[in-house]
Amino acid sequence: MPLLRIISQLILPVVRSTKGNIMKVSIIGPGGIGGVVATLAARCGHEVILTNSRGTATLEDQVRTLGPNARAASLADAVQAADIVVLAMPLTALSRLPAKDFDGRIIIDMMNYYPMRESQIAVLDDGEMTSAEMVQRELPGARVIKALNNQDAPHLLLNAGTGSALPVAGDDAEAKESVAAFLRDLGYETIDAGMLRDSWRMEPGAPIYVWPYAPALPGGMDPLSDDAKVFYVTTAGIPVTRQAARALLDQAKRPARIGGFPEDLPPTWVAVVANWQEVERLSREMEARP
Ligand SMILES: NC(=O)c1ccc[n+]([C@@H]2O[C@H](COP(=O)([O-])OP(=O)(O)OC[C@H]3O[C@@H](n4cnc5c(N)ncnc54)[C@H](OP(=O)(O)O)[C@@H]3O)[C@@H](O)[C@H]2O)c1
Repeated sequence: MPLLRIISQLILPVVRSTKGNIMKVSIIGPGGIGGVVATLAARCGHEVILTNSRGTATLEDQVRTLGPNARAASLADAVQAADIVVLAMPLTALSRLPAKDFDGRIIIDMMNYYPMRESQIAVLDDGEMTSAEMVQRELPGARVIKALNNQDAPHLLLNAGTGSALPVAGDDAEAKESVAAFLRDLGYETIDAGMLRDSWRMEPGAPIYVWPYAPALPGGMDPLSDDAKVFYVTTAGIPVTRQAARALLDQAKRPARIGGFPEDLPPTWVAVVANWQEVERLSREMEARP
């Protein structure tokens, strides 16, 4: 069982949606980060629908782990049923989505542009539009909101309920408020990060991206050591208050180089991503220690 799912079962109490307002939340791509959103949403009582490119049979174990308010569905069914659709797949998969199916749907775009993974995308490299504006261009009838993209997967899970605030950007005020309510259910404060065109302030490389939500390693710990990797994926960060999050957004300067690059991320997180299975093994060994 993936490490994040083990941790989530240990640390997260079952809580109900803050307003008792149960939503149908469809997650396209319940992998590393989408799986965390699924866990948090199921824990607060929302109905969670998972979909991917390999078919519902490949999601059976994950659905079982999430519990009775989760199910898997085809892409078309998942989108059709949803109050909120979460895009948690690689940005490259965007062009394969059937755009018409998304008309009128509230979308959370949590995808990030990493040129070395995605290959170069000229309209993003040129600063012509933000990646969220590109999502809106590809899904013109959708109500696209940028959110949940600026923490790494372990800390989206570990920092839930600790008082941290996350930015939410979008052009549709009503959809933005629905997404903010959903984030509050997941355990986060929210701040308004403006329109989709402003969402570069929360893209990779911006001050509010990943680093502020990550824990500081104990003094003297080698960031690439096994101890650091286990510490990193099992330790919450210091809460980023709404005031601190606002200051981080305001500090942002549009970078000359667009997109995510490993050198802009905590080195321990880069090392974890490079060898996730090894970190899972180490964590299991640590848990088994007397
Ligand atoms: N990991 C993080 O910490 C993190 C944090 C913030 C944002 N993000 C962003 O979130 C996105 C996903 O990252 P990740 O690390 O979670 O990746 P991941 O672990 O590789 O998961 C990707 C998911 O997308 C699915 N998928 C791939 N192609 C698809 C398609 N054509 N249609 C439907 N589903 C598809 C995959 O399942 P199948 O292969 O079975 O289809 C898988 O469930 C990226 O854009 C990333 O930049 C990641």
